[in-house]
Amino acid sequence: MRFSANNLFFQKSRYVRLLGIVNTMDEGLANRPLIHDHPRSLAPLLDTYAERWALVTGASSGIGKEFANRLAALGMHLVLTARREDEMKTLADELDTRHGTRCEIISLDLCVPGHPEKLINEIQARNIDIELLVNNAGFASVGTFADTDHQQVFDLVQLNIAALTELAYRLSGPMIERGHGGIINVASVAGFQPVAYMSAYAASKAYVLHFSEALWAEFKDYGVTVLALCPGPTETDFFNVAGVPGWLKGQSAHTPEEVVKTALRSLEKKKHYVVVGWKNYILSLLCRLAPRKMVVNESRKYFRPRSKPKKKNRGQDTEPETATLDSSESSDNLPKQTVDH
Ligand SMILES: NC(=O)c1ccc[n+]([C@@H]2O[C@H](COP(=O)([O-])OP(=O)(O)OC[C@H]3O[C@@H](n4cnc5c(N)ncnc54)[C@H](OP(=O)(O)O)[C@@H]3O)[C@@H](O)[C@H]2O)c1
Repeated sequence: MRFSANNLFFQKSRYVRLLGIVNTMDEGLANRPLIHDHPRSLAPLLDTYAERWALVTGASSGIGKEFANRLAALGMHLVLTARREDEMKTLADELDTRHGTRCEIISLDLCVPGHPEKLINEIQARNIDIELLVNNAGFASVGTFADTDHQQVFDLVQLNIAALTELAYRLSGPMIERGHGGIINVASVAGFQPVAYMSAYAASKAYVLHFSEALWAEFKDYGVTVLALCPGPTETDFFNVAGVPGWLKGQSAHTPEEVVKTALRSLEKKKHYVVVGWKNYILSLLCRLAPRKMVVNESRKYFRPRSKPKKKNRGQDTEPETATLDSSESSDNLPKQTVDH
């Protein structure tokens, strides 16, 4: 049988129909986490990590805050970092009351070059050995690339890529020397494909995904495990910060609790990556099977601004704009999450 673009699976109409089927799957089944919460499966993690220290970046809200909650419940002590100190202080007090967790708060803007190093120096000065690094801090920028404030784009690259890489670099060495440790790098399902109008963000997550998997392969013989965590849409402030408040409405999304449970089960199983939820997993596979041109063209529908945003002067300090999204192009027979963030 000849394998041409006009037959079988790669035919556009069939691909779109297949995606449609995935999208209309029973939500309960489709959103079921890939790995289930089973108390017995916590044991190895507890044995390894109790009374040890985790560094959680982006601990002031969303997924990072839930990592802090969950790791504290497992008996870990925490270094919390983000910019908002008050949120972290409140969280630290709660964790101390509930679990007797020791929390060190280091408030820093990790977009600033040099601050990841400052963070590591501060941790060393407090005589703390990090057993688990949760590289979670990150944000997205949504809109036409050419009209995005240049500082925002460079901040995104600095935080989502450079800071994450530097923290992994500086903390993995001591882990390898000790012969144990873990790193969770928060990527995204967006890392499996290019996403128009979210171009730098999706590309940054592709970096995180590939970087993490490569480190997993390099470190696994040294007792250090690295996980790329790929959530789909999750109920956090993420889309508000990205300038598209309300985008999650009508989308199926996971809770931070589901995301973190999946991550910790996968870390324990020493997986190299995990996509949160069956539906997101299947969509991530389809994105890899379908022609790249089709995938990127489909992505245009999800974050396309309704009207062309006013051009900003590059280098000028301006308030971030709230993008309005063009829903007119959405087609009912297309899955709304072909592209999520
Ligand atoms: N929510 C989703 O749908 C989703 C899906 C896939 C992947 N993700 C990824 O999940 C991670 C966590 O996001 P989230 O959903 O939990 O969103 P979130 O609630 O907005 O949390 C983002 C965290 O990053 C911190 N952060 C942002 N800029 C920072 C900076 N310059 N320096 C230090 N910390 C900074 C924030 O703290 P401060 O503002 O206090 O600094 C906050 O704690 C991100 O990497 C995101 O890309 C999210």
